[in-house]
Amino acid sequence: MTGNAPRNMIFNGDCIDVMQAFNTGSIDFILTDPPYVTRYRDRQGRSVANDDNGRWLKPAFAEMHRVVKDSGFAISFYGWNKVDLFMEAWRAAGFRVVGHLVFRKRYASSSRFLRYEHEQAYLLAKGNPRMPSRIIPDVIDFPYSGNRLHPTQKPVEALTPLVEAFTRRGDLVLDPFSGSGSTLAAARALGRDWVGVELDASHYRTAARRLGQAQRMDAA
Ligand SMILES: C[S@@+](CC[C@H](N)C(=O)[O-])C[C@H]1O[C@@H](n2cnc3c(N)ncnc32)[C@H](O)[C@@H]1O
Repeated sequence: MTGNAPRNMIFNGDCIDVMQAFNTGSIDFILTDPPYVTRYRDRQGRSVANDDNGRWLKPAFAEMHRVVKDSGFAISFYGWNKVDLFMEAWRAAGFRVVGHLVFRKRYASSSRFLRYEHEQAYLLAKGNPRMPSRIIPDVIDFPYSGNRLHPTQKPVEALTPLVEAFTRRGDLVLDPFSGSGSTLAAARALGRDWVGVELDASHYRTAARRLGQAQRMDAA
């Protein structure tokens, strides 16, 4: 049972502020894709807010740890070359690192010493969660999303197995770095409740449209 948290809505604001209004332990599961802190810029020159600094890392993961239920899980994508910053923030927040996921692409997102053909995420636990009823593999296929809705849009197909494995129908899924709302779309398709936060007003509008939410410009 969860306590008081907003359901089936997206907030336009800074997730650190927005999550402060959520009750402790009010979220069943977090699946998030924060900025990788890599100063990403795509071919069209699109960039990602807060991708040029890691100041938000510790306060954001501290809030995520507070709002997720005891014995709950969070999954966070991260930038492989900034793993030290992410790991420090996850551990400082109180999360236990209990698994690692690799998302196999059929294309390279960049190429230097290697062709970079995977995305990655850690499975983080608060306390001692029970085993999921169905254990999924830690390698998941990652089709190209086309990045039409967001410069780093995740394919819903790669997120669905995670939501399915770590939640039940009616559970509340949070993505504090929603972008175009891919996590929330996966949660909704599976009959889960969802709540998202997005800083950028234009991405917020995209996500709100995608999830069919009447637009609310107010934070928290
Ligand atoms: C990697 S993108 C997420 C993309 C998303 N998974 C999708 O499929 O569209 C990270 C998002 O976090 C947002 N962001 C950055 N800092 C934020 C903050 N403090 N609070 C809320 N959103 C933030 C960025 O604007 C960006 O849209």
